[in-house]
Amino acid sequence: MTRIAPSILSADFAALGEDINRVAAEADWLHVDVMDGHFVPNLTVGPPVVRAIRRHTDLYLDCHLMMTNPGEYLEAFRRAGADSCSVHVEIGGTSDLIYRMRDLGLAVGLAVNPETPIDDCIRWLERIDLLLVMTVHPGFGGQSFIEEMVPKIARARKAIDSAGHNVTLEVDGGIDTGTAARVAGAGAEMFVAGSAIFAHEDPAAAARELRAAGDAAREAA
Ligand code: DX5
Ligand code: ZN
Repeated sequence: MTRIAPSILSADFAALGEDINRVAAEADWLHVDVMDGHFVPNLTVGPPVVRAIRRHTDLYLDCHLMMTNPGEYLEAFRRAGADSCSVHVEIGGTSDLIYRMRDLGLAVGLAVNPETPIDDCIRWLERIDLLLVMTVHPGFGGQSFIEEMVPKIARARKAIDSAGHNVTLEVDGGIDTGTAARVAGAGAEMFVAGSAIFAHEDPAAAARELRAAGDAAREAA
């Protein structure tokens, strides 16, 4: 089943609570993009904003840490109310970060950039809960989906299935009804979408359309 994680990066930060309310009924998770101005050339939000969102909603908070040094902040994110954190495989120190997330009671995510081979993630599959495959170069919302990521998602799907461990396959970047169908066909299950949802006049309807597109493609596959 297709699940939807609206990315608040494309919401109105001055009216964040209202924007979350507009999509909550159709959201499985809420995706929080944390950017440190170093791992990616942009700055966004940190634990204080996660804490504010936590007070506002019971939705599962999926924090995508686009950071060079997430280890220093994992505890703060957990205390703020994060449910999962995803760290990037490119920064290294993966084993220690996984251990620390697990120890804090966070669901453990590993994120992988478009240019990084999926093979770099395979050995971690037994220890993680979530594999986040980037389908754009991280840093900004509203970019175009990188089509070459479709076979990469299919490889990730195969690797997860043969690892026999329950890992959610999440995709992030440029997801709209067209690309949702293609990544669902390749085996993605959790769809992050920012602009496709919050640029829509009815964000809940947009999320519903994404889910329907994913489900239809999955049935056809
Ligand atoms: C990009 C972020 C994404 C972003 C997706 O670096 O990781 O989560 O919000 O936005 P859209 O759906 O607009 O590509
Ligand atoms: Zn993200």
